[in-house]
Amino acid sequence: MADMFRLATPSSAHLQLLVAMLRNPASTGTLLPSSRALANAMAGAAEGADLVVELGAGTGPVTDALLQKLPHVPLIAVELQAALVRRLRHRYPGADIRQATASQVVDSLMEHPGRIVLVSSLPFRSLPAPVATETAHSLCRFLAHNPERKLVQFTYQPRAPFAAPRHLRWKRTSVIWRNTPPAGIWELGLTP
Ligand SMILES: C[S@@+](CC[C@H](N)C(=O)[O-])C[C@H]1O[C@@H](n2cnc3c(N)ncnc32)[C@H](O)[C@@H]1O
Repeated sequence: MADMFRLATPSSAHLQLLVAMLRNPASTGTLLPSSRALANAMAGAAEGADLVVELGAGTGPVTDALLQKLPHVPLIAVELQAALVRRLRHRYPGADIRQATASQVVDSLMEHPGRIVLVSSLPFRSLPAPVATETAHSLCRFLAHNPERKLVQFTYQPRAPFAAPRHLRWKRTSVIWRNTPPAGIWELGLTP
């Protein structure tokens, strides 16, 4: 029920995302933060990870769910926009929040051992094409390096978030109806 009123009762997260959208619509990609249902489902998909890297943390709904559901799993949250990074650092003072591009952080972790789960809210469909292509290549390189790694990504579209090479496979794992708009959760990893 609470989700039905998300537009009618704007929070500070709604307002900050609105400002980010006005400043940088292509890389923000949405007017509404993810619902708790979507954030919880994204965090749940990261269970079993040794390290979680959140890409495009925005105002922090998924960060929040990750910290609550997986309190003992190290988390790196990545966000590009300075104002949103300031908000995240203020809300989660002990957390590892990095102001960087997703590619920069993922590339720097290429040789990191263990099961790494990338939990991404990056808006691939609205990012400028060169940024979307470079980021997708970087994520695919990272996943191809180790079969224990996976990407969890939501999208509002009925198809996979971006085209991946053949050795990687997309799987839609759920649809979250309690989100505006409803979102599909997809996972990408090496084909078994
Ligand atoms: C759709 S918003 C997601 C916000 C939040 N995670 C949520 O679920 O409501 C996408 C976020 O990705 C960030 N972003 C876009 N391109 C990025 C990039 N290349 N690297 C890191 N963050 C990026 C934007 O600044 C924006 O905050």
